[in-house]
Amino acid sequence: MPIQVYENKTFLLNTEKTSYVFKIDKNGILNHLYWGRKIDEIKDFEDSEIHRENSYHACIDKTMEECSSFGMMRYKETSIKLRYSDGVGDFRYQVTGYEVNNNCLLVTLKDIFYPFQVTLFYEVFEKENIIKRYRKAENLGESDIVLERFYSAEYGIPGTSYELINFNGTWGAEFKRYSDKINAGKKVYESLRGSTAHVANPCFMIHKDAEEDRGEVYYGALEYSGNFKIVAEATPYEYLNVLIGVSDTDFSWVLKSGDCFETPAVYCGYSGSGFAEMSHTMHRFCLEELAPKAFAEKPLRVLYNSWYATLFDVRFEEQVKLAKKAAGIGAELFVIDDGWFGNRNSDFSSLGDWYVSKVKFPEGLNPLIEEVNKLNMGFGIWIEPEMVNEDSNLYREHPDWVYQYPNRTILKGRNQYALNLTKEEVVQFMIQFIDVLLTEYKIDYIKWDMNRPVGETSVCGETPEERKEVWVKHTRNFYRVINECRKRHPEVEFEACASGGGRVDLGAMRYFDEYWPSDNVDALDRLEIQESYSYIYPAKYMRAWITDTPDGLTNRKIPVTFAMRSAMCGSLGIGNNLNTISNQEAEEIKKQVAVYKKIRNIVQFGKLYRLKSLTKDEFHAVQYQKDGSGIVFSFLINGRYGKEHYNLKFKGLCNESNYRISANETVYEKSGAYLMYHGLDIVLKGDYDSQMIEIIKDR
Ligand code: DGJ
Repeated sequence: MPIQVYENKTFLLNTEKTSYVFKIDKNGILNHLYWGRKIDEIKDFEDSEIHRENSYHACIDKTMEECSSFGMMRYKETSIKLRYSDGVGDFRYQVTGYEVNNNCLLVTLKDIFYPFQVTLFYEVFEKENIIKRYRKAENLGESDIVLERFYSAEYGIPGTSYELINFNGTWGAEFKRYSDKINAGKKVYESLRGSTAHVANPCFMIHKDAEEDRGEVYYGALEYSGNFKIVAEATPYEYLNVLIGVSDTDFSWVLKSGDCFETPAVYCGYSGSGFAEMSHTMHRFCLEELAPKAFAEKPLRVLYNSWYATLFDVRFEEQVKLAKKAAGIGAELFVIDDGWFGNRNSDFSSLGDWYVSKVKFPEGLNPLIEEVNKLNMGFGIWIEPEMVNEDSNLYREHPDWVYQYPNRTILKGRNQYALNLTKEEVVQFMIQFIDVLLTEYKIDYIKWDMNRPVGETSVCGETPEERKEVWVKHTRNFYRVINECRKRHPEVEFEACASGGGRVDLGAMRYFDEYWPSDNVDALDRLEIQESYSYIYPAKYMRAWITDTPDGLTNRKIPVTFAMRSAMCGSLGIGNNLNTISNQEAEEIKKQVAVYKKIRNIVQFGKLYRLKSLTKDEFHAVQYQKDGSGIVFSFLINGRYGKEHYNLKFKGLCNESNYRISANETVYEKSGAYLMYHGLDIVLKGDYDSQMIEIIKDR
C-alpha cells in the first residue's frame, strides 16, 4: 500500500524502494521521522520521539518539521512566513484532518485562531519511486492575509556534514557542477531573474561522499520556471533542513477573502545506491510523467539549424541551398533561427514584429517551406515571444507593454526589453501571433528563446504587497501562453531555449519537448555540460549539435568524428555551414547521422550510465542501455606517453547473459559479468580520439 496511516497520527508513504514517514507529535507539530530505504512496518515509528526539552534547548529547534512557520521562536529558515491583517506574523496550527485517496495524501493544518488553512499534498508514484509534494494556502475569513514566503516542501535529513549539489553557470558555461559541504549555516541557490536562468537550477541533490553506484542521495526538482530558491541549512541540532520553492525574495501574495495560493510541485526521491539510480529514476519519470504526450514516445528528429551558418542573414536562396545539403546529410527537420522577421538584421531591432521579412523572403515563407518539405524534412522556426526591441513597430505602438519604472530609463539586456506578461493584452498578443504563424504556415517545430532576464517589475499592482506578486504572475502567464499554443497546435514540436540552457527545469518540461542546454557547442566543453545536465534531465531533452571547427566561442579545433559523437550523446542536431565545409567533413557527418538514426532509440530512451568523467578520469565515457542493447561513447582528449589501452567497465548488463560487442570494427563475445567486472580494453590514441561501442545481447 503506498500510503498507510497509523492511529490517525503517523503517516507512511511507500514507493517500491523507499519510505517517507512523518507524524503529528505530542505538541501537535507535523514531525518528519524518516526518509530512506523502505521500512514497511509503520508501528515501528510509534515511539521514536526522542526530543527532550530543557531550559536551554527548545524542543521545536530539534524538530524536523514537514511545514515550519516563521515565528513561534523558530529561527531556522522556515516553509511559511505570513502576516495577518492585525500584524500577527506566525502560523500556529492544528492538524485538522487528512484524506487518503489511493496514492494521494492531503493533510490540513488550520490556524488555531485565524481563518487560515494550509493543505499539504503528497502524491506517491510507487513504481517510479518518486513523491510529488505541493501546498495550498487558503484565506477562509474576511480580512486580507499576506504570504511573504510559501515554499513547496521542507525536508529534514538527520546527520551532519552533508553536501549539496547544484549548478552555477552563465551563458556559454551552463551546468557547472558544485558539491559543497555544509558544516554549518545555510547554502542558498536562487534565481531572481524571472526565469530559471543559468545561475542555478531548481533542484537539489544531498549526499555524503556518494558516488555513481554507492551512497545515499536525497534529491528533488521543482516544476517551476520562475524565481526559485533552495535553502539547505545545517542546524545546530544535527539535521539538515532543506527547503525548495518559489523564492521569497521580492515575493508576497495577498490572499483576499476566499483566495488560495498553490505552490509549484516538487518531485523528490531517495537513492540508496548513488547518483546513477537517481538519474535513472528522474529520467524515466520525466519522460513518462511530465513530457508532453504528443512527442513523449517518439524519438526526436535529427535537426539542422542554420543559426551558426548564417546568423541574422537568413535569405531565401541561401536557406534553400542549406536545406538541400541538410537533407543530403540526413537531417529530418530544417530550422531557421533568428533573423527571418521584421527588419531583424542584428539584435538591436524587430523583436515583437513577428511577420516575415519581405526583403529576405520576397514571396513569403511558403516557397522555403515547400522546398524543405519536398526534401522530406519538417520545417521549424525561431521565436522570442516575451521580448521586444525599442526599434520595433510593437514597441512604437505599445510603449507601455514593457516592464519599466517611472523616472528611470528602461533597462536593456541584449538590447531588448522584457514584455509585461502580467498585462492581459500582452498575453493575448503572444497567443495570437504564435497562433497566426502556426495557422498560416506549415510549421512543425518552434524554438522558443528568451534572451534577457526580467527586471523593473515592482510598479505593477495596486499595493506594495501586490506589486511583489508580479514574478509569480509572470511565470504563470508564460505557462498560459505556451499551454494555449500547444492546445491549438498539438502537432507542433517545441524546444525551450533561454540564451542556451536558461530554461531547463521540470516546469518547462510540461510544455516543451526538448531543451537547448547551451550556446556553447564546443564538443569538449559540451561533454562536461552534458554530464552535469544528465544528473536530473534526460538525454532526449538535451539537443546537442555539431558545428564548424574551430569553435566560435573557444577557438578549439576538434575532429569531426569526435564532435559528432559528442553530439550523438543527446538528441542530435547539425549547425555547420554546409555551404562551406569540406566534402570530407560532410561525408563523415552524413555517415554518423545514419549511425545515429539506428541508435537514437537507445540514446534517447535508454538508461544512462556515466562510466568515466573528465572531472576525475583520463577519459570520458557514457553508456546508454535499453533492454539488451547498448551504446557506449568514449572520448580521449589528450593522449599521453603513447598510452593507447584503457580499461572500461560497462554497467547495467546481466551477469549470465552473453553479449556481442562491436568496437573499432572488431567483434567480441563476452559475458555480462566479464564486461562489468573485468571490463573491456579499448583503444584510444592521441588527441581527440573517440569510440562508439555497440552492445548486443545474444538471444
Ligand atoms: C540565443 C540562443 O541560445 C541561440 O541558439 C540563438 O537562437 C540566438 N539566441 C538567436 O538570437
